[in-house]
Amino acid sequence: MATNITFHPGAVDNAERATLLGQRGLTIWLTGLSASGKSTIATALEQHLLHLRKFAYRLDGDNIRFGLNKDLGFSEHDRNENIRRIGEVAKLFADASAIAITAFISPYRADRLLARSLHNTGEIPFVEVFVDAPLEVVEQRDPKGLYKRARAGEIKEFTGISAPYEAPESPEIHIRTDEKSVEESVKAIVEYLQEKKYI
Ligand code: PPS
Repeated sequence: MATNITFHPGAVDNAERATLLGQRGLTIWLTGLSASGKSTIATALEQHLLHLRKFAYRLDGDNIRFGLNKDLGFSEHDRNENIRRIGEVAKLFADASAIAITAFISPYRADRLLARSLHNTGEIPFVEVFVDAPLEVVEQRDPKGLYKRARAGEIKEFTGISAPYEAPESPEIHIRTDEKSVEESVKAIVEYLQEKKYI
């Protein structure tokens, strides 16, 4: 724990930065089971927003675990720390006026709430998107063969099988990916952002 530290505010506040850059930052937080479609939607959404000339940037679970969070595994403690760090990183991006798009299972409600509260203190919008598909469906998809291995006991603490997933109770957006296409999912998110005048 660091002591004797002082916070230094910039000469340009958040509102002025948004005016100067013509874009207000926010975080779009995708949560859902493995293979629910988080990464696919995040990738398509990032592309869509960039083509609208918005500065959008994607933070993805698998990718971040190759670098920043390569010291973390999948115990409850490590997942808490994974999400805490990503909450902070997303907030930094959004504070810099980017649209941060995060794609992490983020299975614990308390962790997602912490990420949200970090944004609230900076008055930065936080849009939780529940990327939802029933366990039977994601198990059927199983693009990486992980569910099969988890069922066989080869992967411990696998979300939905041997580790919990606490579904959001009141997400800003709820998408059933077994009922909607990727394009429809992106459209639903973009329409929400436009309605709220975030973009
Ligand atoms: S978490 O729970 O938010 O900390 O997980 P996340 O950082 O999003 O990483 C999830 C991806 O890691 C792979 N993987 C596992 N997922 C769940 N449980 C266990 N035990 C596990 N081990 C490896 C898996 O590929 C997840 O990717 P997605 O894209 O979600 O399928």
